[in-house]
Parts: sequence; structure tokens; C-alpha cells
Amino acid sequence: MSNDLFERVDAYIDGLFAPSDAMLDGAVARSRAAEMPEIQISAGQGKLLYLLAKLIGARRILELGTLAGYSTIWLARALPPGGRVVTMEFSAAHAEVARQNFAAAGLVDRIEVIVGAALESLPGLVARREPLFDMVFIDADKNNYPAYLDLVVPLTRPGGLILADNVIRSGKVLVAGSTDAQVAGAAAFNSKLAADARLEAIVLQQVGVKGHDGLAVGRVR
Ligand code: DHB
Ligand code: MG
Repeated sequence: MSNDLFERVDAYIDGLFAPSDAMLDGAVARSRAAEMPEIQISAGQGKLLYLLAKLIGARRILELGTLAGYSTIWLARALPPGGRVVTMEFSAAHAEVARQNFAAAGLVDRIEVIVGAALESLPGLVARREPLFDMVFIDADKNNYPAYLDLVVPLTRPGGLILADNVIRSGKVLVAGSTDAQVAGAAAFNSKLAADARLEAIVLQQVGVKGHDGLAVGRVR
């Protein structure tokens, strides 16, 4: 079966279950206009995150890697009134585009953008002593995924979800000792997630408009 078929089936599924709208199209258009990398999650992946957030009744969501805020919009739309997404973005330029997208989407009151390296921002978030998060979505630099996992587990409530994008990388995680830091980070993350007694987890293999990759889904015991 060809990638082309997987992409067409993805388009079919997204057309039925995650049709685009002005809010999401506007976010993608502003991302393109700012010449940002088009590596946001697909519409179908957004719908999955949205459904998972609703299924667990998520009120507080943490995201690592805002990019232009496409996934953040999906997550914010799953929240009940008073809910909140805290999203961390390394690039100030990307965060600025994301803020414009949240303003255009009317979601500013539900989303907090924290600019800087998440490894440095996360201790500050811990120090705020806010209620635990119901859900965490990791979609940032893959080399730091293992460190992110250690930092976010204590921030997530029992029964909460920890998700991570791009953990299969076209199957490159099968090659032991990869010299690609992104691939090695994803592989180390998967091993760590599987072995962590605080969590029960699985990786969903995904093919389609984003190529061949995987989404990790973990539940805090
Ligand atoms: C890349 C990063 C992503 O988060 C993604 O979804 C796809 C690709 C990348 O850095 O190549
Ligand atoms: Mg990603």
C-alpha cells in the first residue's frame, strides 16, 4: 500500500470527522504567512486530542511545543467553561504568531503562552503550586522528550493522560543507537514510558498526511 493511499484515506477521515473551519484555517494561514514550518498535527490528530480531553473531562491541559497554536486550539476547544491550556514555546517569534491565532479564535482567556525552553519554564510552573493537570501533550524537541516525561509526571493527576507526538519517526526508532538526536530522544522516551511504573501506556502507529509516525498515550496510575 502506498503513502498516497494512506494520505487519501486520512483526507477522507478528516473530511468526515474533522472538517476544517475558519478558526483552524486562519491559524494555518498565519503560520504560512510567517513562514513557519508546517509540522503541526493533522486535523484528525487534533480531533483525537479533543476527544481524549473530553473523555477524561479535562479542565487543565499542559502543552510543550506551541508552534503556531494549531493543536492548542483543538485542546482549548475541548475545555469546559473556566478551563485552561498552558502552552510552552521555545521561539518568541512562533509564540507571537500563536498569540495572534488565539486572539482571532477568541480563545485568549483560556490559553496561557509561556515563552522559553520548557526545561527552564517547567520548574517555574511547579513553583506556582497550581492544581495538577488532567492532560499533557508533548510535541516539542524530541531530544528532550525523556526529560520532559520526568518533569510532567508529577504535574499530572492520577488518571490523567500524558501524550507525545512523533515517537516513531518513520520507523527510525527501530535502529538502536541512532546518531540522530531527535530519533534517539523518541526511542529513549518510548523505552522510559514503557518501563515507568507510574504510568500505563501504548504507542499508536500513525500513517497518512503526516507520513509515518506514532502518538504515545500514557495514563498516570
Ligand atoms: C517534526 C516535528 C513535529 O512535531 C512533527 O509533528 C513533525 C515533524 C520535525 O521536527 O521534523
Ligand atoms: Mg509533532
